[in-house]
Amino acid sequence: MTPYYITTPIYYVNDRPHIGHAYTSLAADVLARWKRMQGRDVFFLTGTDEHGQKVEKAAQDAGEEPQAFVDRVSTSFRELAVAMGFSEHTFIRTTEPRHYAACQALWLKLRDAGEIYKGEYAGWYAVRDEAFYGPDELVERDGQKFAPSGAPVEWVSEPSWFFRLSAWQDRLLALFDANPEMIAPPSRRNEVMAFVRAGLQDLSISRASFRWGVPVPDDDQHVMYVWIDALTNYITALGYPDTENPDWRYWPADVHMVGKDILRFHAIYWPAMLMAAGLAPPRRVFAHGWWTNEGQKISKSLGNVIDPLALVADFGLDPVRYFLLREVPFGQDGDFSRRSLTHRLNGELADVLGNLANRTLSLIQRNCGGLLPDGPVAAEDAAILDALPGLPEAMDGFLDRQEFHLALEDVFRHIRAANGYITVAAPWSLKKTDFGRMEAVLRHLHTALRTYATVLMPFMPTSMDQLLAQLGVPEEARNLAGLATPLPAGTLLPPPSPLFQKVELPA
Ligand code: ME8
Ligand code: MG
Repeated sequence: MTPYYITTPIYYVNDRPHIGHAYTSLAADVLARWKRMQGRDVFFLTGTDEHGQKVEKAAQDAGEEPQAFVDRVSTSFRELAVAMGFSEHTFIRTTEPRHYAACQALWLKLRDAGEIYKGEYAGWYAVRDEAFYGPDELVERDGQKFAPSGAPVEWVSEPSWFFRLSAWQDRLLALFDANPEMIAPPSRRNEVMAFVRAGLQDLSISRASFRWGVPVPDDDQHVMYVWIDALTNYITALGYPDTENPDWRYWPADVHMVGKDILRFHAIYWPAMLMAAGLAPPRRVFAHGWWTNEGQKISKSLGNVIDPLALVADFGLDPVRYFLLREVPFGQDGDFSRRSLTHRLNGELADVLGNLANRTLSLIQRNCGGLLPDGPVAAEDAAILDALPGLPEAMDGFLDRQEFHLALEDVFRHIRAANGYITVAAPWSLKKTDFGRMEAVLRHLHTALRTYATVLMPFMPTSMDQLLAQLGVPEEARNLAGLATPLPAGTLLPPPSPLFQKVELPA
């Protein structure tokens, strides 16, 4: 089995999980589920980023010791994974001893290779982004300077260790040229390449003015810059520095799934550090876009943070999962509204997919005693049936490019066609006139529904499993390989029940 390694960012524990975190991890979960269903050997990693000034400050504000604080908040990210239905994964925390060991080993590797040196840092720092900015990137309002992200910056001047990033410009550009798929989507790749072409500064990788971080080896005045610590999580989880660890087979990562805000760290700093340490860079970094809430930037201070758990309670888990990946072309920014979620649930899940399943399964129940019928293929069945074998392959292409919206659009194009087919074939009126033809039409619809439900499993695992159960598909055959074996005629199907509950449009 070929290994497949998919990661999410590790989230800062200064805050409760919100829809943005749920979104990134959901995209990764769909890939993990799809690849597993194809028989790949999948390692799915998520977790929490628990060091740095921002987290230390959040702990102080909460009146807690940093460790107690991160233990508590980290739990809410674990709970999110359960509430969002994320499949089997490893949850890493940067306060784990194994992670300290990995960070320090990587540090020593870089130090021994002459890739880092000690100097003096003087420049602008945004605690909210945990990032350094050049003076030309800042704007000033009322005597305060701000980063492009809107975060306020402060002047920092202290001794610091540096990574010789400036020496990596040409090798990074060569890497990107040789691997056109490494950074996606293409617009983001262009941004990254332009940034690297403009020239790179050495990167400050330690801080001396606070303590909440991984200690720098042989220098007890310094803790590691939180991003060096954070990025290393992706190899800690595979056993680094023990490259004999069986999990090391997953490196390099197939996809680092991230938001556009943290692309620079993943596409520039991280590959350069890995190569400097003699390790392979990730195969791909995908930076998705940003959600706003009913047109407004989502922020704690605006009080408009969307709680994914509340959405799941109101709409159901699978409709939320479907909506997030269907509504916005993956890679672009999007706006969240309860109204559009309601439209997707009522108009697509319930009216298109739910309705097709319900019409087909109730007719089999009522007219065939719940026994799966069979019958010959007529010319007018070809359009629906002939399209089925190509569907998993088309999905695979979309998913390898992280085009979740196109994958869903494509399946729903098929499902709409099947709705057209059932309307024209009108099996409900054939019971008395042509029972054999009715049986054939229902059989073909059953075959089509089974394919749709199977390819949709990674997106809506609970309801599609329920649909496959209603279609009489045994549990072990509810996957891509199972599609090769048609269900025998005469299989007894359980009585159907609705898959999706419509909700009222919000006022
Ligand atoms: O940056 N829309 O953690 P973080 C879409 N610890 N996605 C959003 C979003 C929004 N409005 N808000 C957040 C960090 N995200 C670091 C990462 S990785 C080695 C270290 C998602 O808690 C998106 O994936 O600030 C973004 O990149 C991530 O949350 C940032 O999470
Ligand atoms: Mg952030």
